[in-house]
Amino acid sequence: MKILITGGLGYIGSHVTVLLLQKGYEVVSVDNLDNSSIDVLEGIEAITGKRPFFEALDVRDENQMTNLFDKHPNIDGVIHFAAYKAVGESVEKPLEYYENNVSGLVQVLKPVTRKAIPFIFSSSCTVYGQADKMPIDEDIPLKKAFSPYGNTKQIGEQIIADCCKAYQGFNAILLRYFNPIGAHSSAKIGEFPQGIPQNLIPFLTQTVIGKRETLKIFGSDYNTPDGTCIRDYIHVMDLAQAHIESLDYLIKSNNSEACEVYNVGTGKGVSVMEIVQTFEKVTGEKVHFEISKPRTGDVITAFADPKKINNRIGWKAQYSLEDSLMSAWNWEKQLKIL
Ligand code: NAD
Ligand code: UFG
Repeated sequence: MKILITGGLGYIGSHVTVLLLQKGYEVVSVDNLDNSSIDVLEGIEAITGKRPFFEALDVRDENQMTNLFDKHPNIDGVIHFAAYKAVGESVEKPLEYYENNVSGLVQVLKPVTRKAIPFIFSSSCTVYGQADKMPIDEDIPLKKAFSPYGNTKQIGEQIIADCCKAYQGFNAILLRYFNPIGAHSSAKIGEFPQGIPQNLIPFLTQTVIGKRETLKIFGSDYNTPDGTCIRDYIHVMDLAQAHIESLDYLIKSNNSEACEVYNVGTGKGVSVMEIVQTFEKVTGEKVHFEISKPRTGDVITAFADPKKINNRIGWKAQYSLEDSLMSAWNWEKQLKIL
């Protein structure tokens, strides 16, 4: 089976590519290298002994996309990762975000809906905003998004749902990721944050390795057991596995719902302080941190109810938080060597 991955050299796309190749799928990978490096292909090959077919292209370019589908007429499934993902940046550059995340999606959907190819979309728990109840299940009404990035995910979901209704035979799954962290156990692929990391785990590992001075914990007076924010941190390899199981399910099922949405999380809420403590315990390293003022736009608590994906697709997170943090640390350590 041949699977097209857009944004295939990015953080999540590269981990999904590894699993697909290991399971014997053929992978066509495209990426414009905006937020990744061609060297990721070496990492993928070192782990799997295989290389995906790769083309450096921009999914917004209709001609390039048409040529790609002409070159590969038998694509059995598409996983669409290509997008910008920095929440703060999206507030400063909304048009870039709408153009890439929304127009890019539309360009990908043109050939995909024409050929009714099963489609998996990278959505985010950011679509829920601050949910009124925990854990968050897929049925709670979506709130207004906090950022242009969040809007692009809500709009993207709506576009896909409309396409599923309009184009006979076109089915899709929307995966709402909670907080992906960690790296492949080989430490040959992982996340490359550009500039100063905005996310907790890369900032933490960069602090411990000495690239940053102090981890700022954004807020300690929240209404949570230890006062710090709570998230659902999911190992990137678990997330990768969720894509493969969702794709298999979509390809095999003759589903009548056409557009299904699933949370991808562990179901466990973990505070920022617990992350620091667990990291120190598993790595034996000390995290230099200070309490800082809350970050604008942060929701206080967000963790998934993953029952729907557990029960319908059969996927369940396997890795522990300890595994995730250890793999993130191993990845950081080898980056220092590079
Ligand atoms: P990433 O930036 O590491 O990967 C995205 C890849 O897409 C990059 O390699 C980039 O170069 C490429 N790309 C961007 N625009 C492109 C375009 N127009 N044409 C071709 N390639 C393009 O990000 P990631 O963490 O792997 O995220 C993948 C997807 O998952 C994104 O859609 C993101 O919004 C979504 N997501 C990520 C997270 C997270 O915390 N990492 C959480 C929820 C959802
Ligand atoms: N945090 C700190 N210090 C830091 C960075 C983060 O205390 O230096 C805290 C945040 O306040 C938050 C928690 O750590 O409480 C997690 O923050 P992240 O920035 O790592 O993750 P978010 O939950 O804010 O958002 C991330 C992605 C979004 C995505 C969302 C859900 O950035 O794109 O997960 O998948 F939508």
